[in-house]
Amino acid sequence: ARHFALIPAAGVGARMGGQIPKQYLPLAGQPMLLHALQRFAAHARIAHTFVVVSAEDGWIDALMTPALRQRVSILRVGGPTRQDSVFNGLNALREQLADADWVLVHDAARPGVDAALIDRLLDALAQDEVGGLLALPVVDTLKRGDGASSPRSQQTVPRAGLWAAQTPQMFPYALLHRALRQAQEQGRLGEITDDASAIEMLGLRPRLVEGSPRNLKVTLAQDAALAEFFLKGPHP
Ligand code: C5P
Repeated sequence: ARHFALIPAAGVGARMGGQIPKQYLPLAGQPMLLHALQRFAAHARIAHTFVVVSAEDGWIDALMTPALRQRVSILRVGGPTRQDSVFNGLNALREQLADADWVLVHDAARPGVDAALIDRLLDALAQDEVGGLLALPVVDTLKRGDGASSPRSQQTVPRAGLWAAQTPQMFPYALLHRALRQAQEQGRLGEITDDASAIEMLGLRPRLVEGSPRNLKVTLAQDAALAEFFLKGPHP
């Protein structure tokens, strides 16, 4: 089966502050989105890459060099949440993808993905029937707050067996499409924040493949400094 990348990049990035959506903010010398886009577009095992942007997006065209245009297509079908954007993207690909084709969904806000991480995921899931995701074992001690405006800790959540999800998250096209459609029909699309949770709602167990701290998600302004540190450093 072939492998396709799907990059949701239709967010507004409100938590970063500012007017430009965060996927277009400069990071290590180029718009954030371009880092991940180039890694997937240059990867020999990725057949093609699709980027989901909002219908009003006025930035993506300037990013698309002639070389990128050969390997990347833009889908202007972004929705109100990440999962809507992914679901709309999968809907738009119904004619182009086969049921068994693998889709690697990757956040534009994770600029640190590289070829070795993509290979690790592809290799780990080559014989898998469900699919899986990059993730990191949790190292912090976890507290459950009581929800107050000035919260107190109610308890410590044992971190053994807990993983922090990253992307790419890789599933067969038809399975992921069905999982998201079912979540939407059950009105549960809003409660999930990644692709693997929709698969879990079908009763399936996505494989956890060790990711990397370099593959962090840039959510807040200070994350950008750390992402730049990794991007400018030596590539392993
Ligand atoms: O905001 P957050 O970092 O959780 O977004 C994760 C990814 O989902 C980003 O790449 C963002 O551009 C994308 N997204 C989207 N459509 C939305 C919201 C977020 O494609 N409506």
